[in-house]
Amino acid sequence: MSKIRANSIPALESQLDTPPPSLSELYHENTKIHPLTAKDLKMIPSSDYSTADLQAMSRAYKQYPSLPRVKLPPIENITQNGRTFDEVVSSRRSQRDFADLELDLDELSKILHQSYGITGEISTNKGFRQDLRSAPSGGGLYPAEIYIAVRRVTGVAPGIYHYNVPNHELELLIPGDPTEKMHEVCCGQEYVHQASFIILISGVLERTKLKYGERGYRYVLLDIGHLGQNIYLSCTALQLAIMTTCGFFDDEANKLLRLDGVDETAMYVAFVGKRQALNK
Ligand SMILES: Cc1cc2nc3c(=O)[nH]c(=O)nc-3n(C[C@H](O)[C@H](O)[C@H](O)COP(=O)(O)O)c2cc1C
Repeated sequence: MSKIRANSIPALESQLDTPPPSLSELYHENTKIHPLTAKDLKMIPSSDYSTADLQAMSRAYKQYPSLPRVKLPPIENITQNGRTFDEVVSSRRSQRDFADLELDLDELSKILHQSYGITGEISTNKGFRQDLRSAPSGGGLYPAEIYIAVRRVTGVAPGIYHYNVPNHELELLIPGDPTEKMHEVCCGQEYVHQASFIILISGVLERTKLKYGERGYRYVLLDIGHLGQNIYLSCTALQLAIMTTCGFFDDEANKLLRLDGVDETAMYVAFVGKRQALNK
């Protein structure tokens, strides 16, 4: 890989010999931790976090208090299906055989809780309390927001919902069948017409960049990767079909979710539904 840094003046020879660095090379090179830049990073013990960091950590979720809501069934009441972790991990696959059947609200509740729900809390210094989640997160800043385009879930009207993490409930952003809108957003992928719901995950970039600067963008992607794997494993445990895709129009997804595409932007899409054949 070229070692040309964006803010350096490369020697003439290297300009002639090597192709210009790609955007990703420039970004990666310029967000490496280096002894010279390490002093700008907040690598400080948690007992010493600043009030601004602690505030960001204790409020790491978005809420829409004025929207209609659907309470998700409490997680304690949802029975486990008895599959071992070994079985779940070894059988995890991207499944593309959606049965276009209704899913239970219990199943949606379980998937959301197991992938990004609150699973604990800690008290930090200066009297702040921080919720901990089922996915790890750089600096405990949890930059992801989850939206669900519901087509067929028992007891939930079709529409596009936002997952309110602390209340474990869905907030109705856009009522009505989301199928055709999602079909456009997902570049015409037919899975939209068969999935029971479609998960969209956004990254609230500032939540992480506030603390980590430009390098924080890497952490947002890493966090969403962890969250995505949790969704996959949860769906596998429930014997549901899931398939993620990078094939979506970013701006169309942002417009649909009413995101500006800068501070918060769509980053991940997955289709979820019943499997046509359980042995696949
Ligand atoms: C970031 C990402 C994007 C993906 N996009 C697509 C996609 O657009 N279409 C598709 O059929 N599969 C997609 N997949 C699924 C991969 O093809 C799949 O994970 C891979 O072939 C390995 O198969 P497995 O998940 O069944 O083990 C994607 C996976 C990831 C992680």
